[in-house]
Amino acid sequence: MTTDFSDDVKDYIDRSLKHLWIHTVQQDELEQDDALLVIRSGEGIYLTDSKARKYIDLMSGLWVVAVGHGREQLSEIAAEQMARMSFANPFSYATEPAIDLATRLAEISPPGLERAFFVNSGSEAVETAIRMAKQWQYNRGDQRKFKVISRVGSYHGTTYGALSINHSSYMNKTPFEPMMPGAVKAPGELNADLIEQVVLQEKPETVAAIIAEPISTANGSHVPAPEYWKKLRALCDEHDIVLIADEVINGFGRTGKWFAMEHFGVTPDLITVAKQLSSGYAPIAAVLASEKISDGFRGDTSKALIGGSTWGAHPVSCAVALGNLDIIANERLVENSEKTGAYIAEQLLELQNRHSGIVADTRGIGLMQVIDLKRNVEAGESFREEDEIGKVVGQAMRDNGLLSRAGATIQIAPPLVINREEADEIVDSLDQVLDTVESTYGLK
Ligand SMILES: Cc1ncc(COP(=O)(O)O)c(C=O)c1O
Repeated sequence: MTTDFSDDVKDYIDRSLKHLWIHTVQQDELEQDDALLVIRSGEGIYLTDSKARKYIDLMSGLWVVAVGHGREQLSEIAAEQMARMSFANPFSYATEPAIDLATRLAEISPPGLERAFFVNSGSEAVETAIRMAKQWQYNRGDQRKFKVISRVGSYHGTTYGALSINHSSYMNKTPFEPMMPGAVKAPGELNADLIEQVVLQEKPETVAAIIAEPISTANGSHVPAPEYWKKLRALCDEHDIVLIADEVINGFGRTGKWFAMEHFGVTPDLITVAKQLSSGYAPIAAVLASEKISDGFRGDTSKALIGGSTWGAHPVSCAVALGNLDIIANERLVENSEKTGAYIAEQLLELQNRHSGIVADTRGIGLMQVIDLKRNVEAGESFREEDEIGKVVGQAMRDNGLLSRAGATIQIAPPLVINREEADEIVDSLDQVLDTVESTYGLK
């Protein structure tokens, strides 16, 4: 590790602390010694910071970088597309890259989802799906249906509609109230009957849509039983409710299938996608719509979807996303996610046996795995606030060359290009992290 770093490195850190608003970290924490990492470059599953320290990108950025860092093929595609033209008005015209990407998405998504509406972020995709669901109901002549049901613990984004349907304890919405009318919280991450009860209580004739992640990351990556999504599908069909699957994290191989809904054999009415759609090489997201929904916007002019987005279907992002999907397919990364994910899951079970005092559970699917820690597993005792488990695990991870979201739950979601040796490296490092946690709390 280099401690004698150059003036240039220091200058960047100073200017970051002064001018850059890092999204969710408390500024005071960032100002502590060596708290701020300036990430400079990446190769495969690795990232290097400005002090030349190398880390494994254990959460693929934010579940984004499927094909790994440093893919020159994608930068070449972006440069070629930029040289051809800058941009075309997506409110009125198509571009070839947008058509190619929409066609590919129709080919690889669950059957019946034929049309893609492109936007720039997961939040915007969720926001658009909410508007589509509401206007679809309105266009059918049903103006009573305005409620959107989402589940406890869920996270769907930060624009106002998406924010309103978040029910995660991590996100205090109080300063932003009042929220969107009709944003209804339901229990039932793993039990669809509880969602049905809420629909009935709320009166089905007022419910426009139900939205959920197929396998919820925000809720800790528990995989629902096979009949869960079938029940939700039947519930929505019975009451003309739009079923939205939020695959912003799950999509494009993260769970070992192209789309997580394939695990359940259910086709939703709308799917929101983002993140791995471009592996982060360019910002892009989309709503994938069934013909049932998109046909509801045909007819006279007033029925067209209200509202677009200037950067939606940006030709450079579309071209890069298509190149990214080519890499995922050609290098069989979806299969690798399933295979290497299963291998990591086995190794995590061994770690659980070795550290049974603090590892309460390991679980997941594909390359979306987690470790849950407790202060005392046998006594069922969780970490207390004063234990500062987030800080302890976060520092231990960094010291062992791992970057991820970590606290009482450690996320293990490396790029889909990961190989066996790299998986072993991760497990060895996690072993060290767990040793450190045990000694920090005097549990060894
Ligand atoms: C399930 C889900 N939906 C939507 C979003 C919002 O995406 P973005 O941060 O791109 O706006 C996220 C972000 O992590 C997410 O996890």
